Amino acid sequence: MSYAQIDLRDKPALEQLFASTKFNAVIHFAGLKAVGESVEKPFMYYNNNIIGTITLLEVMAAHGCKRLVFSSSATVYGWPNEVPCTEEFPLSAANPYGRTKLFIEEICRDIYRSDSEWKIILLRYFNPVGAHPSGYIGEDPRGIPNNLMPFVQQVAVGRRPSLNVFGTDYSTKDGTGVRNYIHVVDLADGHIAALNKLSNPSIGCEVYNLGTGKGTSVLEMVAALEKASGKKIPLVMAGRRPGDSEIVYASTEKAERELNWRASYGIEEMCRDQWNWASKNPYGYGSPDSTA
Ligand code: UFG
Repeated sequence: MSYAQIDLRDKPALEQLFASTKFNAVIHFAGLKAVGESVEKPFMYYNNNIIGTITLLEVMAAHGCKRLVFSSSATVYGWPNEVPCTEEFPLSAANPYGRTKLFIEEICRDIYRSDSEWKIILLRYFNPVGAHPSGYIGEDPRGIPNNLMPFVQQVAVGRRPSLNVFGTDYSTKDGTGVRNYIHVVDLADGHIAALNKLSNPSIGCEVYNLGTGKGTSVLEMVAALEKASGKKIPLVMAGRRPGDSEIVYASTEKAERELNWRASYGIEEMCRDQWNWASKNPYGYGSPDSTA
């Protein structure tokens, strides 16, 4: 096993890699993922996410590697009219980041239509949280975290004073936004299941949700992390964040039926492992001086 650090847009470097190693399949996780940043810097998002993916697919095709697992997102459901979201729901995107996911899905479908040798699985992630149970691997966003749990974690370790709760007037159980959180280890297992599925001769270009099928509110997540950590998370009730959906959670039936995969961890384990990582690494992979 070896490691190479290559920008996916660097076609000569990718060519060299694929010429020197025969790959059975590619899991493509690489991409920029901050919604707000994508609104401010659309060129950067389209250039990195779309051009990087097209270059990768071209090089894969040229080297006869036509098996792909791609990290898509529940963001392609936009603001869904109903829940749970099934894979057949209409697709839309509300920002450049979401559009890159949607466009890449469409590009993959077109490539399969033009060449049925391709086997492609698009995985629509819901809200990945938690960390590896060892406490050695976890999320360490640079700057101010955009996502809920990295932010809550930084409040719990004392790096930030309080959490802004974005929206308390939604039509949900407690007025706060509802999402489908999924443990990162379950998410990783979903990729193994997808890779296995690629060996199935009948697979073409397929899409699967990776979620638990359960909706959890912001306040429920905060309470679960408080319980796991024994820390109080001070809250500031704030207005809605522009572009946020009210309630999004997955239908898990298709993945269970066809990938033979289902999430095994609940909110309690997600928060336990998140706190284990956070308490062992309050400054992530950095030091107090190297973080904002
Ligand atoms: N939230 C807060 N305070 C914060 C951060 C988030 O109250 O400081 C709330 C949000 O309003 C939302 C919930 O916590 O109700 C979850 O927010 P996240 O930012 O963690 O996750 P999102 O569901 O908004 O975004 C995730 C992915 C995106 C993806 C999107 C749509 O991070 O990449 O799902 O599926 F586009």
